Amino acid sequence: MCGIVGYSGPQSAVTPLIEGLRHLEYRGYDSAGIALATPSKLFIEKRAGKLINLELALGNSAPIAHSGIGHTRWATHGGPTDRNAHPHVDNEGKLAVIHNGIIENYTQLREELESRGHIFESETDTESVSHLLSDLRKAHGGDLAAAMREAVKSLRGSFTLLAIHADAPEVIVGVRRNSPLVVGLGNGENFLASDVAAFIDYTKRAVELGQDQVVTITPEGISITDLDGNAVTPREYEITWDSSAAQKGGFKHFMLKEIFEQPKAVADTLLGRLSAENKIQMDELNLTTEDIRAIKKIVVLACGTAFHAGMIAKYAIEKWAGIDVEVELASEFRYRDPLVDRNTLVIAISQSGETMDTLMALRHAKSSGARILAICNTNSSTIPRESDAVLYTHAGPEIAVASTKAFLTQIIAVYLIGLHLAQTVGRLTGEEVRELFYEMTELPAKIEQILETVEPLRELTRGFAQSTSVLFLGRHVGFPVALEGALKLKELAYMHAEGFAGGELKHGPIALIENGTPVIAILPFGHEHGLDEKMLSNIQEVKARGARVIVIAQEGANVVGAEHVIRIPSAPALFQPILATVPLQVFAYEMAVTRGNDVDQPRNLAKSVTVE
Ligand code: G6P
Repeated sequence: MCGIVGYSGPQSAVTPLIEGLRHLEYRGYDSAGIALATPSKLFIEKRAGKLINLELALGNSAPIAHSGIGHTRWATHGGPTDRNAHPHVDNEGKLAVIHNGIIENYTQLREELESRGHIFESETDTESVSHLLSDLRKAHGGDLAAAMREAVKSLRGSFTLLAIHADAPEVIVGVRRNSPLVVGLGNGENFLASDVAAFIDYTKRAVELGQDQVVTITPEGISITDLDGNAVTPREYEITWDSSAAQKGGFKHFMLKEIFEQPKAVADTLLGRLSAENKIQMDELNLTTEDIRAIKKIVVLACGTAFHAGMIAKYAIEKWAGIDVEVELASEFRYRDPLVDRNTLVIAISQSGETMDTLMALRHAKSSGARILAICNTNSSTIPRESDAVLYTHAGPEIAVASTKAFLTQIIAVYLIGLHLAQTVGRLTGEEVRELFYEMTELPAKIEQILETVEPLRELTRGFAQSTSVLFLGRHVGFPVALEGALKLKELAYMHAEGFAGGELKHGPIALIENGTPVIAILPFGHEHGLDEKMLSNIQEVKARGARVIVIAQEGANVVGAEHVIRIPSAPALFQPILATVPLQVFAYEMAVTRGNDVDQPRNLAKSVTVE
């Protein structure tokens, strides 16, 4: 996954391109590069490392050009070097290409092109497209869009591609297959980008490109065709958020801002969801009562943090609605002949709506007849578009690579689905739903309360900065919280961290405990099975072996054996993850800051992973 931007209009293109790349850097930051089309010649600058390296290399040297393309890379084929940075040009240096995705048959293409005399400069899969397009453009009498249509027919894999040629500098041609591309419609200027964030400072009018569609932009307009050249009518929409939502707003990092936005994100996702008749309002699910009664099984598919939200879905939906729920890593799902059919409801959870593993898994489920419901934070992205229904979370743009507010809203979304299903199948009364919903509406204020008192936790975290390994323990819904706490710490602090179910401790993980090993235990609360006592025993077990124990516990809970207790407000058992996750996010954030890491752009990661 890389970030892609294109501009054609009256401005000096370098400005919208660099600003666009700044908004897209979350998609990858192994290198950045631009191609500017000056009459008859391309100006190319590209540099390994973050965007700042490109900016320093450019200094004031960028020529005035009124169109160009820009790229920020997450390396797949070929290391993160200057040479492998995009754009990639043809041998005449007149045609430049940028790419997000993977060209799976690039080796074969490269061999063919080399046998025809093309000389390659990089180790990337992308460069084969520059050479291929160069030949095809000549064959099509200089028509870059026609060349793109033909080129794409011989490409396998997933990709968004943009191309520009020095002989027609105003024209930028793009195409997408399984990777995102949006068109920004300006006044006398037009944009192309992986995400609307790249051009939101210039226009709020956008057009989403469909699968295998080719778009041409010039300052005067846009045209879209399918791969056979048939015209496609653009479907315009209005972007509803503004650029301030994608800025730090006084916070030191996007992640910190997003942690503090969680009360609002949760409240917004709950907004308008309970009717005056105590019914969960979920019209967008497109499921009739008969459809819901026919559901035999729910399969949740997701990756990373979204997978942890999926784990919580199992507890909530099984408890309330009495429907069997399986949760599976999307990247594993389609490789094991999964048993799904038309009586299966698949819930695909994805913040970005672009994660390739999740997309491929949902396509596989769809081909087996399952009905697909997406939980997504990004309007009109690929996963919702390919699903039968979508429930949007209202977290607003999440920029930091490590997910925080999107996670909490994903959990809220699965609670809402669980309550809706339970009510429809008659397992919860309107009164019960109203009570649970009311408890949910109390959560934003409770998160606020946690955030108001995080200073001691931040100080405490700094005291553990030299630790080499941190273990997280949870039970019941606290288990996915423990996994999420460990994931956050790995992503941000680059420390060994693992989450375990408390009961599993004795079956292996306890061997990891050494004198001084930090263990963070999430004390279950509001649970009818006395799980808190079992966790307190686990705490004693690790303490007896030298662990330094931090406990996340509800106010008033009796905690024995902890070196530190982080208090959070109480809530019904199933809602604990919404509260218990917050201190773990702060812990990971503070650890990353203390260790001098890049919080918003951790090494080797990217926010949206559009390769399998
Ligand atoms: C990447 C991100 C994670 C995220 C995962 C799933 O790995 O770094 O933070 O949880 O993708 O992303 P999605 O957009 O599908 O929720």
